[in-house]
Amino acid sequence: MCGIFAYLNYGVNRERRYILQVLFNGLRRLEYRGYDSAGICIDDSSSPSPSPSLLPSPSSSVNGCPPLVFRQEGNIESLVKSVYEEVAETELNLEESFSIHAGIAHTRWATHGEPAPRNSHPQTSGAGNEFLVVHNGVITNYEVLKETLIRHGFTFESETDTEVIPKLAKFVFDKANEEEGDQPVTFSQVVVEVMRHLEGAYALIFKSQHYPNELIACKRGSPLLLGVKELNEDLNNGPALHDDKFLSKNGHPKELFLSSDANAIVEHTKKVLMIEDGEVVHLKDGAVSILKFDNAKGRNGGTYARPASVQRALSILEMEVEQINKGNYEHYMQKEIHEQPESLTTTMRGRLIRGGSCKAKSVLLGGLKDHLKTIRRSRRIVFIGCGTSYNAALAARPILEELSDLPVTMEIASDLVDRQAPIYREDTAVFVSQSGETADTLQALEYASENGALCVGITNTVGSAIARKTHCGVHINAGAEIGVASTKAYTSQIVVMAMLALAIGGDTISTQARREAIIDGLCDLPNKVREVLKLDQEMKVLAKQLIAEQSLLVFGRGYNYATALEGALKVKEVALMHSEGILAGEMKHGPLALVDENLPILVIATRDACFSKQQSVIQQLHARKGRLIVMCSKGDAASIFPGGSCRVIEVPQVEDCLQPVINIVPLQLLAYHLTVLRGYNVDQPRNLAKSVTTQ
Ligand code: F6R
Repeated sequence: MCGIFAYLNYGVNRERRYILQVLFNGLRRLEYRGYDSAGICIDDSSSPSPSPSLLPSPSSSVNGCPPLVFRQEGNIESLVKSVYEEVAETELNLEESFSIHAGIAHTRWATHGEPAPRNSHPQTSGAGNEFLVVHNGVITNYEVLKETLIRHGFTFESETDTEVIPKLAKFVFDKANEEEGDQPVTFSQVVVEVMRHLEGAYALIFKSQHYPNELIACKRGSPLLLGVKELNEDLNNGPALHDDKFLSKNGHPKELFLSSDANAIVEHTKKVLMIEDGEVVHLKDGAVSILKFDNAKGRNGGTYARPASVQRALSILEMEVEQINKGNYEHYMQKEIHEQPESLTTTMRGRLIRGGSCKAKSVLLGGLKDHLKTIRRSRRIVFIGCGTSYNAALAARPILEELSDLPVTMEIASDLVDRQAPIYREDTAVFVSQSGETADTLQALEYASENGALCVGITNTVGSAIARKTHCGVHINAGAEIGVASTKAYTSQIVVMAMLALAIGGDTISTQARREAIIDGLCDLPNKVREVLKLDQEMKVLAKQLIAEQSLLVFGRGYNYATALEGALKVKEVALMHSEGILAGEMKHGPLALVDENLPILVIATRDACFSKQQSVIQQLHARKGRLIVMCSKGDAASIFPGGSCRVIEVPQVEDCLQPVINIVPLQLLAYHLTVLRGYNVDQPRNLAKSVTTQ
C-alpha cells in the first residue's frame, strides 16, 4: 500500500528532464502498490547545486529557494501529464543540469483522507516546504501528535496521518536551533527525534530545504530498500556499507535510490541494502550512514536507547529487469498467468531429488531441514494467510493432513488476531504470503511467535518482513508478481505446500507409492499447465457469454473447494462481477435457493474422491434448471452430464492433490478476459493494491 521512491545523484551531472524520468519510472514500477494519487518533489532551478569541485555539499543553512512539489489525483500518468503541463506554463528549464539533486516521489493508496492533491504526498511542514515526507504505512498516534502541534501553532491542510511527520520535523528543528544556538542540529538528529514520537508502521523518506542535497530514510514495519550505483565500481563486489566511510572513498560519483521494493531499483543497480526496522539511513555527500535504534518499539512500548551507528553489507538482487517488464503481453496479469509453466519450474528447481532411475524420489527444502523434526512433533499445523494466499493453503490442507498425519487448521490472519485464538508452543504456524509484508499476516505472526509456536514462512519476497520474522521457511521463487490479482504466486504456493507435505511425511512403505506419484506429478506439472493454457481462446468465448452477468457462482469440494473460492475471488476482484465460491457439500443448506435458469453456475467436477458426489450435485442443479458450466477431466465431457447439454471445460487430469494447480488456470483466464471485455483495468483493480501493509 503506497509506494515511495527517491533518487539522489551525487557528482553525476543530470538534467532535470532525466531526473523527472527516473522519478516517474520509479513510480510506474511501484504503481501496483496504490494508484489513486501521486506526487513528487524536485529542486528548484535556483537551489544551490555545487559543482563536483565544491563537494561535499553545502552546510545546512536555509536554502533561499524551496523545493518544487507536484501532487495529482489519479494514477502516475495523470501526475506525469500535470507536471509537464506545469513545467511548460512556468517555463521551468528541463535542460538545467544538477551535479547533486535529491528528488522524492510517492504513489498512494488512500487510508486517511480521500484521493485529492492535498492528501497526496509529499506532505509538507507548511508554507516554504521546509520539510517534506513521503510515507508508506499508517501512523496510529497521529491524532495526539496533531493536537499537540496545533497547540504549538501549526495548521493542517490534509486529512492524512502523514502530515504530522513533516510538521513534527519542523517543530523539532526549530526547537533544537533555539536551544542549541550556534551548534546546528543535523538532519539525522531531527529525524531520530521525530521517530521517537511515531507509533504505527512506516517507511519514510525525508527531504528538507534546510539540508539541501541530503535525504533521510527510516522504517519500522513497512518495507524499504536502498540501491547503490557506484559508477566506477564492479557491481558485484561492493564493499560493506558502514557509517559514512563507504561511498565517499575516492570521491566516486554515484547514484542512490530508495524504494518500497526492488522492482524500482533493479533497472539501475543490483546492489542493495535492505533497510531494517529501527534504522535511520542518512544520504549525504555521497555517503551513507546508518543509525539503529536498539529498541524498535513505539513510545509507549518501551524505553529508547540512543541509536548507534551500524555496519551493514550490501546484497545483490537476484532479479532481472525482464521479470518486471510485460514483454509481449498486454497486461501483467496475462503475462503472469501464461508464465506459470516457468514459474512452477523455478519453484521446484533443486528441490526434487532424483532417485536411481532418474526419477525424483524425495524432496529437499533447505530452509526447513533443521526444523522438520520439530514440525513432525508438533501438536498441529496452523495455516495462516489472507486472500489468495489463504486459498492456496486451503488447497494444500488435505495433502498435508494425509501425509503428515497431523491436524491441520486454517486461520484467516485478521480473524485469528481478532479472536486471539489459542496458539500453543507445540503448534507449527505456517504463514503464507506472496508479498511477505501483509500487515494482518504480520500481526498474526507476532501473536503466534509471542505464544511460542514454531513459525514457518512461505513467501515470494526474499528479505520481506515475514521471511525475516519467521523461524524458518521456504521461498516460492515464482518471480516478481506485479498484477494486483495474484495468479502465478497461487500455483507456486500450492506446489511449495505439497512439497512441504512430502518433506514432513515419513517415507514409509505404506505411503511410498502415493509419494512417488505426487513427485512424478510435480515433475510433469509445468507440461500439464502448458496444456491447460491452451484453453485461453475458449475462456475468452465463455467470457463473452458471461460479460453482462451480475453474478457467477462457483461450486467445488475436497481439493477444489479452494479452487472455487480462488476462482470466484479472481472474477470478483478484477472483473468487478459478484462471484461466490461455494462448498458443494453445503449446497442444500442454503445456496440452492439461488438456483434458477438465469444465474450461471460453474461446477468443478474433475476426477478425485469427490467425483461421484459432484456428479449428483450437477444432477440436482440441472433438475432445478440451473444454468451450468462444468469443469471436468479430459475425456469426461460426454459422460459428465448424461441428462442434458451444458458448457464443459475439459482440463488435463493430474494427481488429485495437484489438480487445484490445473483447475485454477481456466478460471484465471476467464477472470482476465471478462475484465478486459468489460473494459476494466485488469492490473489495477478498483480500490485494491498489492501488498496490503495497513490493517
Ligand atoms: C488476490 C490477492 C490478495 C492477496 C492478499 C494477501 O488476488 O492478491 O487476496 O492474496 O492480499 O497478500 P499476500 O499474499 O501478499 O500476503
